[in-house]
Amino acid sequence: MDSFRTLIPYLRLHQRQYVIGLIAVVIANSFSLLPYYFIRLTIDGLTGQVDTDPATTGITLGTAGLYALGIVGAALTSGAFMLLMRRMIVIASRQTEYEIRRDLFAHLQGLDKPYYDRARTGDLMNRLTGDLSAVREMLGFGAWQIVNIVSGFVTAFAVMFSLSWQLTLIVLAIVPVIVGVLTYLARQINVRHRLAQEQNSLIAAKAQENFSGARVVKGYAIENREIDDYRAMNLELLRRNIALTKVDGPLRSFMSLLLGLAFGVILLVGGRLILAPDSTFTVGMFVQFVGTLERLTFPMLMVGWITGVTQRGLASWLRLKEIFDSQPLVRDEPGRTDPTLRTVTGDVTFENVSLRYGDRTVLNGVNLHVPAGTFLGVTGPTGSGKTVLAQLLTRSMDPTAGRVLVDGQDVRVLPLRTLRDAISVVPQEPFLFSDTIANNIGFGLDNRDLPPVPTGVSVVGAPPPDDIPQQPDPARVREAARLAGLTEDVDGFPQGFDTSLGERGVTLSGGQRQRTAIARAIVREPRILILDDSLSAVDTETERRILDGLREISRGRTVILIAHRVSTLRHADQIVVLEEGRVTEQGSHDELLERGGHYAQLERLQRLASDLDADDEAPLDPEAAADRLENAPTPEQVTR
Ligand SMILES: Nc1ncnc2c1ncn2[C@@H]1O[C@H](COP(=O)(O)OP(=O)(O)OP(=O)(O)O)[C@@H](O)[C@H]1O
Ligand SMILES: [Mg+2]
Repeated sequence: MDSFRTLIPYLRLHQRQYVIGLIAVVIANSFSLLPYYFIRLTIDGLTGQVDTDPATTGITLGTAGLYALGIVGAALTSGAFMLLMRRMIVIASRQTEYEIRRDLFAHLQGLDKPYYDRARTGDLMNRLTGDLSAVREMLGFGAWQIVNIVSGFVTAFAVMFSLSWQLTLIVLAIVPVIVGVLTYLARQINVRHRLAQEQNSLIAAKAQENFSGARVVKGYAIENREIDDYRAMNLELLRRNIALTKVDGPLRSFMSLLLGLAFGVILLVGGRLILAPDSTFTVGMFVQFVGTLERLTFPMLMVGWITGVTQRGLASWLRLKEIFDSQPLVRDEPGRTDPTLRTVTGDVTFENVSLRYGDRTVLNGVNLHVPAGTFLGVTGPTGSGKTVLAQLLTRSMDPTAGRVLVDGQDVRVLPLRTLRDAISVVPQEPFLFSDTIANNIGFGLDNRDLPPVPTGVSVVGAPPPDDIPQQPDPARVREAARLAGLTEDVDGFPQGFDTSLGERGVTLSGGQRQRTAIARAIVREPRILILDDSLSAVDTETERRILDGLREISRGRTVILIAHRVSTLRHADQIVVLEEGRVTEQGSHDELLERGGHYAQLERLQRLASDLDADDEAPLDPEAAADRLENAPTPEQVTR
């Protein structure tokens, strides 16, 4: 119930609809019992038995007509209120679902990298769809049925009791048995339903992974094993579904049997009551009694069912609450963040920065000053902390010790928006959206100052959604693509920049993906540009063109270029070598060669590798030699 309390703010938004809807259920229920009253009047009028109701003294064609009208009127009224209920509750529950989903998504947007490192995508998707539906079902169907059952039982028993307390006692003795059995069956159904659903999720996850990893599956020629795995899972689903049907099927038959028994007993006792001398219990009253009892069939069937819907709904709501309760570790902190800081020049300082994951030290007392406008190269063996260093600058997480400063300000003082507007990162594994190339490049351009996403407000009366965002400026997209050395590739595509990429952009080559990501980063004209191993998949000629492009835009901007190839790094103003989380070397290309450390060794090995290749077929121009380097052992293999 505690979990239910946290849902109340959402229900409040539609208080009026829920209250009107639930009152409508009660009214509809009461009116649905009225036809049996008119039938009673008609029967007793015809048989001439002495009814306790004075309305039944004889019957004429006129009164019979009135009763008929009464039946129609009651049915109409009941139906009308039922309709009103649906309009109120079902719509309110849909709106609540919309509001929770909207708030969930907005909340998820605010969560940071550490959260997404831990969360599983499939699980999040499932919560946004399956769990949300379960909550909606509880709020709509569930709320309606609970009120329907309670008010149905109360009104029906009141009517039955007024007709015959003896018969009502019999019903009172039987109903708990029926409800008990049905509840037991419903619980079995719920358990088996859940088992089937779990298997469903597994199967879906299996299929999804198989499709995403189709290339790996084909590459290793393990199709048959996959088919076999899938068949086993599919068979298990079949087994569970059959188990479900085995209890689901008998439910209704069993219900009919129990009710049949109950009606038998009631007929026996009721008949005796009618035939008893001086009886005030008439045939009409008996018919009304049986009709009213019949009206209870559905609510009885629903009791067990509704416990399941409620349990599922509450469990699902708890899973959604978990998301709502997660807070980003990195965020603007009132009192610390200075909202007046809107611009950044691009001067970067790492001051004694350390980062630990658990008991592993990933960065260890890094000190580094990168004046604004510097072209900084960063290299080091794989796993030495280069990517992490870049992530600290954008505050994907905060350091365990020390400070990261931008323009002399602790990044924790800069508003996140200011910081991230000023920095573009080309991540090591760029992600492309299933969209056109132009939109993928212009992705970060349209960062308008929208009003904050409203949360916790009703959809009713909320402002209409914003206009569809405009296409990114084609001229800027084209220029960014040129600088990233992508123009020729794009011009070769059927629709140029309007060519759509398949899911995750699989139709692009690795190098094309990298360059699309580079164009996306530079189109925003950031003060600080970070390229994390972004030139690893392009040949040396393309690399040279991109580096030229970068130099063209880097005037006055800070560029941090992480790379393993000396050819990529050699023209940087400063080169930093990271080893096991420490800065071990720092200086220009020539200075580092002189020092004879990691960088000098890297240069020697890469030169040797290209010379070896060159020996095979002379003569050789330097460009071609560099191209060969592509196939030479990668530096990390070499340094290991
Ligand atoms: N979220 C994380 N949780 C735990 N450990 C992490 C996390 N991210 C990175 N690490 C660890 O930090 C170390 C440095 O990782 P990082 O990605 O910075 O290496 P890198 O220098 O970029 O290597 P590469 O050249 O292969 O890209 C690695 O040992 C890695 O396992
Ligand atoms: Mg890395």
